[in-house]
Amino acid sequence: MSEVHLVNHPMVQHKLSIMRQKETGSKDFRQLLKEISLLMGYEITRDLPLAEIEIETPISPMKACRVLGRKLAIVPILRAGLGMVDGLLDLVPVAKVGHIGLYRDETTHEPVVYYCKLPEDIQDRLVIVTDPMLATGGSSCDALDMLKERGCKNIKLMCLVAAPEGIARVQSAHPDVDIFVAAIDERLNENAYIVPGLGDAGDRIFGTK
Ligand code: PRP
Ligand code: URA
Repeated sequence: MSEVHLVNHPMVQHKLSIMRQKETGSKDFRQLLKEISLLMGYEITRDLPLAEIEIETPISPMKACRVLGRKLAIVPILRAGLGMVDGLLDLVPVAKVGHIGLYRDETTHEPVVYYCKLPEDIQDRLVIVTDPMLATGGSSCDALDMLKERGCKNIKLMCLVAAPEGIARVQSAHPDVDIFVAAIDERLNENAYIVPGLGDAGDRIFGTK
């Protein structure tokens, strides 16, 4: 069974509360999502492999450590997952970025694929899938299926707000994928929106409603 990591750092919780408020506009929403993504990035990259390198300080040679950041790929689920990419890239600037485009059908709430472009060597990388909202879990599960079809074996899922239903679905379909979230909310409503949640993440990031 995969692990669920709740990133409950006070700064993450503070910023998330501002994002949830309906008065918060797109500019602040985007900025806060970027900042939270960087903070969550500390947790999600906690076990990144280190390589030993020889360096020289002004005083003497030494063996030092370097993160193997070139072995990382960030894969946002479009659109809303895009809002988490820049914060992670601030942390690991050499990571490659792939894109998976999915939207939820308004009546079935099931995801529909419309785009997929991934780094050629994605199967050799640690992949961080980003999507702020884990609601029914359908979109995340489909994205994880697509990555595994491409041979990916080392995948983590980074979300902002999750519903218990979405976590259960991902854990059941992908027991090897650890999930990182800033909040686990109460439930889904009749439209499969997270309650209390923060509304439609894509619309709030891009100002489309
Ligand atoms: C939202 C969100 C997730 C998905 C979560 O995307 O960003 O991708 O819904 O719901 P699920 O867990 O029930 O699949 P949406 O389909 O609204 O597309 P958008 O990001 O382009 O707005
Ligand atoms: N997608 C969102 O953007 N928000 C939700 O609450 C559920 C799905």
